[in-house]
Amino acid sequence: MGTLYGFNAPDILRFPGDSPCFKAVFMNSIRRQLIPWAKVLLSQALVLALVLSLRDDIPFAGPLLLLCQGLAAALIGRVLGLSSFWIPIQILLPLAAAYNAVVPAWAYLAAFAVCALIYWNSASEQVPLYLTNRRTEQALAKLAAEYKARSFVDLGSGLGGVVLHLAASDPALKARGVETAPLVFLASRIRQTLSRLPNAAFVYRSIWDEDLSAHDMVYCFLSPAPMPRMYLKAKAEMRPGTLFVSNSFAVPDVEPERVVDVGDGRKTRLYLYRM
Ligand SMILES: C[S@@+](CC[C@H](N)C(=O)[O-])C[C@H]1O[C@@H](n2cnc3c(N)ncnc32)[C@H](O)[C@@H]1O
Repeated sequence: MGTLYGFNAPDILRFPGDSPCFKAVFMNSIRRQLIPWAKVLLSQALVLALVLSLRDDIPFAGPLLLLCQGLAAALIGRVLGLSSFWIPIQILLPLAAAYNAVVPAWAYLAAFAVCALIYWNSASEQVPLYLTNRRTEQALAKLAAEYKARSFVDLGSGLGGVVLHLAASDPALKARGVETAPLVFLASRIRQTLSRLPNAAFVYRSIWDEDLSAHDMVYCFLSPAPMPRMYLKAKAEMRPGTLFVSNSFAVPDVEPERVVDVGDGRKTRLYLYRM
């Protein structure tokens, strides 16, 4: 294994606890967690200041005004570069603040618990939940056929759509998903049971613990943050000639063998790396 970004491959594979780059990555992660919240506060504060200064001219009040306030803050947040994940939070924040006293404490706790069980990996891995669309699933099934893959894994399989689509499109292909967000994993297991596809499987496992040597085609749709480390893992474990595919997030400083433009509304690109 060579070096990447100035670190030895084995060092990065040992991450997070014992790697020399841990401190830098940890500080980076804290900064990334704080910046969105700073933008939320800024956009809410701007709208609140506007509402207070115009309060005599605004013809409505109460919950409607609070919802409009949230909507305006969500728009400002988007302009400031916040992802769509923050839109519902921004919209509901003024209402939650205003009706804080009448909403029972357990409701916040329950909402927080549900969010945590869905967005389990957002904070620790910087990988939120967004899903591969149908056009991209079809493109992946075509690639699996073209590269004669017999075994496929989706690293971070979400609700299981990709695995189930590939399993349905080729009964000879073993399609597997690994996922650790508890509610999301549960949903994929339920979908698999309902689909009755014998060649689809979901395992509650970290993407870092999956043995990639078992697969002809490895797919991931993660975020920019884990890509360098994931590529090193792929290089270390995947067999020569097998295919590593990343949706939307290229491996920095590594030339893909091929880039597939899916041609969907999102302008999805699949980056293909041959091991
Ligand atoms: C962007 S979503 C993609 C979902 C699915 N692959 C798809 O394309 O529809 C990324 C998924 O990776 C999961 N994930 C992130 N880090 C993970 C980890 N360390 N182990 C297992 N799953 C992880 C997240 O919970 C999330 O469901």
